[in-house]
Amino acid sequence: MAKRNILITGGAGFIGSHVVKLFVSKYPDYSIYNLDKLTYAGNLENLRDIEDKPNYKFIHGDICDNALLEENFKKYGFDSVIHLAAESHVDRSIHDPQQFVLTNVIGTLNLLRCAQNWWGNSPGENLFYHISTDEVYGSLGPSGLFSETTPYDPKSPYSASKASSDHFVRAYGNTFNLPILISNCSNNYGPFQFPEKLIPLTINNIIEKKPIPIYGKGENIRDWLYVADHANAIDLVFHKGAIGETYNIGADNEWTNLSLVELICQKMDAKLDRRAGESGGLIQFVTDRAGHDLRYAIDAAKIKTELNWQKSYSFEQGIDLTIDWYLSNHEWLDRVKSGEYRKYYQGMYKDLTQ
Ligand code: NAD
Ligand code: TYD
Repeated sequence: MAKRNILITGGAGFIGSHVVKLFVSKYPDYSIYNLDKLTYAGNLENLRDIEDKPNYKFIHGDICDNALLEENFKKYGFDSVIHLAAESHVDRSIHDPQQFVLTNVIGTLNLLRCAQNWWGNSPGENLFYHISTDEVYGSLGPSGLFSETTPYDPKSPYSASKASSDHFVRAYGNTFNLPILISNCSNNYGPFQFPEKLIPLTINNIIEKKPIPIYGKGENIRDWLYVADHANAIDLVFHKGAIGETYNIGADNEWTNLSLVELICQKMDAKLDRRAGESGGLIQFVTDRAGHDLRYAIDAAKIKTELNWQKSYSFEQGIDLTIDWYLSNHEWLDRVKSGEYRKYYQGMYKDLTQ
């Protein structure tokens, strides 16, 4: 296996930490550099399993900081980028769209400029792989699927910022010959997801016997993929994807929000030895999200046929693993909620500023 110097951005977040752990463990000959700003969503505790490995290095930094990017490209000679750093929560994008433009659009553009600057017009074995979302395609009615050729139609500030970053990545591929790849994935779930997203929020509130907020009537539909399956797809696209291409990644696993939350309630009543129906009583319907996309669903035929990808976890397995992980990692949940992980970071990297 050829050696690689890979910059992974956003590796302290939910999906990024799974990708970093996979690459560090599976490819000991690769050097993996995780650049992360450690926003509220970034947590170095997610990386404890691999933080001492010789082929892993953490870089505390912001993708909006051009000088820092230049300095690190120069210092470490990255030959590839897997770009996951982003503001990722739709609800936050409704309250603070500007931060989404800064991180998701300007930050991505900075990385592209830096990569193009360092790799030049003959980029050889280099690769800029951008991780994106199915939300760029907009919202589906009751039928139909998003394919790679579905026209972009983003409807939230989050998806508009991700769509814009995708366009810049393709523009750099076309204009500067930068070797690019993009994948657009459906909703992920699994261990280490910040408890502002639907599944960990539901699990957390059931543990704490707090109300579970469901927007509108709970009729919106999402396709849920276990995070390890996404990380495996990213590994495959990184190594086997055809330069310039886009791959949609999905689970063929659609749930209305209400039926998903009800399933988690039932499972957790059994796991926590609570009365059947107890957690369901916590469900509360609240004011709908503004501009709430009705349905996302993916046609993943391309990655299945061209790269031979398939998911390994059934939803039954994935959701059990997820609930069990949160139940046995109370401390992680408590620390994330209290901001305790920042102290962990300060203790761990005493010599760094910020
Ligand atoms: P997350 O919010 O859990 O993690 C994002 C990470 O990026 C955090 O560690 C954060 O500290 C870091 N970050 C934010 N701003 C930064 C900046 N300016 N500079 C450096 N680092 C910064 O997000 P996630 O759910 O793991 O998503 C990762 C990527 O995958 C995102 O690009 C997202 O759009 C995409 N995606 C997510 C999903 C999903 O269901 N979560 C689905 C499809 C695609
Ligand atoms: P979320 O996990 O925020 O992901 P996304 O908006 O990117 O799909 O939300 C998933 C679905 O759950 C979405 O339709 C909004 C809904 N939702 C609720 O009903 N209540 C909640 O408290 C949250 C966070 C989300």
